[in-house]
Amino acid sequence: MAENLSQSQRVNHDLITAHVGEVGGLMRALNALQEHDGYIDAANVPKLAKAFNITKAEVKGVISFYDDFTRAPKGKHVIRICQAEACQAVGSRALTAAALEKLGIGLGETTPDGRVTVEAVYCLGLCASGPAAMVDGELKGRVTAGLFDAFAEDEA
Ligand code: FES
Repeated sequence: MAENLSQSQRVNHDLITAHVGEVGGLMRALNALQEHDGYIDAANVPKLAKAFNITKAEVKGVISFYDDFTRAPKGKHVIRICQAEACQAVGSRALTAAALEKLGIGLGETTPDGRVTVEAVYCLGLCASGPAAMVDGELKGRVTAGLFDAFAEDEA
């Protein structure tokens, strides 16, 4: 079966089938695909469903339930802005709106050039230093809109 597959398809096939029959195998396969491709390609959903003997809706449900799984590649930089209550009380919604306006995208989207993705997150453990954000995995407290200026400019 794997004879007519491209290199990428072959790798994905191997990542999916490597975890069939394992407890938590679907999660392992999804994590492996996310890590390898940077997202879960929709073309893999029916293959996962078949391999794990579940419905495509169940696979999609798992993908959409966990924030770590994405349906499209994320940007080079990933900014996650806290939307939970303590940060909202100190302006995280206005901060988010300012970031999205500067970048010209919506929440959960990536700039067309693939440089920046902005996502919502619900508490980063910096509640006393809000508004809080995570930029490329680094926690930032007392964030102001100025933080996003560098991301709004071309890096050329
Ligand atoms: S509420 Fe934003 S970090 Fe906790």
